[in-house]
Amino acid sequence: MFGQSLFFGFCMMVALAEQAASEPPKTKPYHFIHAIAIDPHAPKTIYAATDNQGLLKSGDGGRSWHLINRGLKNYLVYDVKASLTTPGRVYAATWGGGFYQSADGGESWKEVNDGLGNTAAGAIRLRLASDMAKEKVVLLTSTDVYERMEDEPVWRSITGGLRFWNNPQFQSFEVLPDGLSNVFMGTDHGLYKKDPESAGWVKVNGLADKKVASMTYDKKSGIFYAGTVNSGGIFISRDGGVHWNPPGPGLEKLWIRMITVDAFDPSIVYAATSGAGIFKSRNGGDSWEQTVKGLTDLEARALAIDPLDANIIFAGTHGAGLFKSMDGGRSWDLLTHLPFEENKRQQDFLESQTVRQGAKVSPPPPFKKCNKCHGWTDKNLNQKTTYWRVAANERDWKATVARMSEGTEISSEEQEMITAFLESYTKKNLSGRGGTPR
Ligand code: HEC
Repeated sequence: MFGQSLFFGFCMMVALAEQAASEPPKTKPYHFIHAIAIDPHAPKTIYAATDNQGLLKSGDGGRSWHLINRGLKNYLVYDVKASLTTPGRVYAATWGGGFYQSADGGESWKEVNDGLGNTAAGAIRLRLASDMAKEKVVLLTSTDVYERMEDEPVWRSITGGLRFWNNPQFQSFEVLPDGLSNVFMGTDHGLYKKDPESAGWVKVNGLADKKVASMTYDKKSGIFYAGTVNSGGIFISRDGGVHWNPPGPGLEKLWIRMITVDAFDPSIVYAATSGAGIFKSRNGGDSWEQTVKGLTDLEARALAIDPLDANIIFAGTHGAGLFKSMDGGRSWDLLTHLPFEENKRQQDFLESQTVRQGAKVSPPPPFKKCNKCHGWTDKNLNQKTTYWRVAANERDWKATVARMSEGTEISSEEQEMITAFLESYTKKNLSGRGGTPR
């Protein structure tokens, strides 16, 4: 029996190898878009965050696209936002490589990770300061929320040392206009709100046991939307997240990935869902209709509405890349000629980049165990290249090493060696580099 299946297996391998030699196997494209941003100062300029190829940009309303990855060392980009205040300024959140900022419309990027004790970044929110001249940047990572004013070099944690552990798939947060007490965190174990009194997180009544995967607060209408996973659809609050109305029918069995509100008419709302494409509401979320004509990929992840013409909508999907609607979502066209390079993963791109040539470093042997799961944005630290990379920014490494050692074979002595190594390494390599991000 065993011998037979081995033999069969061998024949299969030969057959597959022959097939591969004659015709390349057709794999489905992996054109995975996590987020889309339209520049409010120049709405023909659009950015898209991809899962493994960095960032895409179009300067002509989505007709043509190019990759904009100069300076980027991590290509798993979860979020991208165009500045509300400053033309040409763009922000990007990467999973492991932390935060990047560009001053030239994304043509080049600078890492801004000082002060971050966690560089697995998943989402960005921009909020105008009270004088309207500057914006505050708020960043969600897998354990903390950080903020800084747009021109400050260093991040501050606003979670007050209190960490949460969040499954990145359910990562969502929202920042309400009135300041810090209004930070909401959606997790796979309920919705939390930052409590101004205890400075900790408190569960939000009505959504305490729901998986909350997306949140959008619309300033104009004051409506706060929370999208769930398989547990009712989109909940609505009209009092800043205190009371939540159970959703109407239609979306209850869906995973709501993103909710976007029409800036001209806030009763018009769109929702991107996993598996059922895009939905539209004409009454502020009370009822929903599916709008998927032409949408050949129903794994919808991202949405963005043109700030000048609300009939123009861009949608990002898991597999088929980007779609555009010119008629308010009634029909969708696939945007072709995206410069995705099939089967090329971020290590291939990174190999071709020039990396600062530091002195050769020799990490302690247990550091190899860290490289089992991921590599480092600093080439000097890599023993092998892996699909995604983490940033070695300056920080107190003890907490990170302890968190990363959970469930691994890394002993406490090894943890100490790794911590000491990373602390001295990042101090030596990053000190004196300075500079305020522009
Ligand atoms: C079992 C696999 C695994 C091992 C071993 C591992 N990591 Fe990670 N690492 C992950 C995953 C998964 C994430 C992303 C989720 C997260 O943030 O926890 C991550 C994220 C990170 C991040 C970015 C998030 C942050 O906290 O800044 C850093 C830095 C990091 N790891 C460092 C390390 C170090 C140092 C070691 C060795 C002590 C290590 N990792 C070992 C799986 C691993």
